[in-house]
Amino acid sequence: MRREKGGDGVRNGRDGRAGIQTQRSKELPPLYSVKDELPPQDKEESLRYFAGIFRGRGPIVVEIGSGNGHFLVDYSETHPDKNHIGTEILLGRARKFASKARKRGLRNVAVFHGDTRRFVWEFLYEETVDEFIILFPDPWPKKRHHKHRLLSDRFVRMLKDRLVDGGKVCVATDHEEYRDFIIASFESVDGFESPYSRGWGDYPDEYPRTLFLERFKKEGRPLYFLQWIKKKTDCTRENTTS
Ligand SMILES: C[S@@+](CC[C@H](N)C(=O)[O-])C[C@H]1O[C@@H](n2cnc3c(N)ncnc32)[C@H](O)[C@@H]1O
Repeated sequence: MRREKGGDGVRNGRDGRAGIQTQRSKELPPLYSVKDELPPQDKEESLRYFAGIFRGRGPIVVEIGSGNGHFLVDYSETHPDKNHIGTEILLGRARKFASKARKRGLRNVAVFHGDTRRFVWEFLYEETVDEFIILFPDPWPKKRHHKHRLLSDRFVRMLKDRLVDGGKVCVATDHEEYRDFIIASFESVDGFESPYSRGWGDYPDEYPRTLFLERFKKEGRPLYFLQWIKKKTDCTRENTTS
């Protein structure tokens, strides 16, 4: 099935690759990498593609900006029933991530080396992802750099499209102004609800630590944890009104 027009900073369509940074993940161990080659062409092909990388189909968890993979390698070990994909734009970090997963012999975690926006836009299809996790995304604090922020309302709309009903997006940040920017992005998109009345809570105790989390804790910086759940579609209502 064709998808809606317009990714976030990504050209339309699967051929619209010109201008997109396409870094190949050849140098990562094959078992642990999503190849940045020809993306799946429809939803079924995408599900088969991921089932082929992992050992069969399972709920999909995507971490955005995984760094060296500290979080996702630990998280996937404690969630053996789910398939995890981390995205990381820097090759050195993606390599460290893949090497950690390989050393632990994990088969339910893989790395995509490249731009996460391209991955979400081209590899994922509507209503296929259970969870997006975004820990300490770059805050781009200067106003003239806000355009580089990942969690714009356009990107949030794309995440919502890829999520299953009841699926969630979890975000951590140490930056108060970016926190409010992210809350505003989610509030501007219909169909999400947060369990937090003020929009954010504490970093969950059961969540693995990340490099940036440890760094910010040492520096005594505040830590904000945001969670947004995609509301379930009310089928009864749709059926009776159509
Ligand atoms: C501040 S670090 C946080 C890393 C890790 N989540 C942590 O908490 O330790 C942000 C990470 O996102 C990666 N990143 C930034 N923009 C990206 C993009 N468009 N696609 C994939 N990764 C990206 C950076 O290379 C970096 O590793």
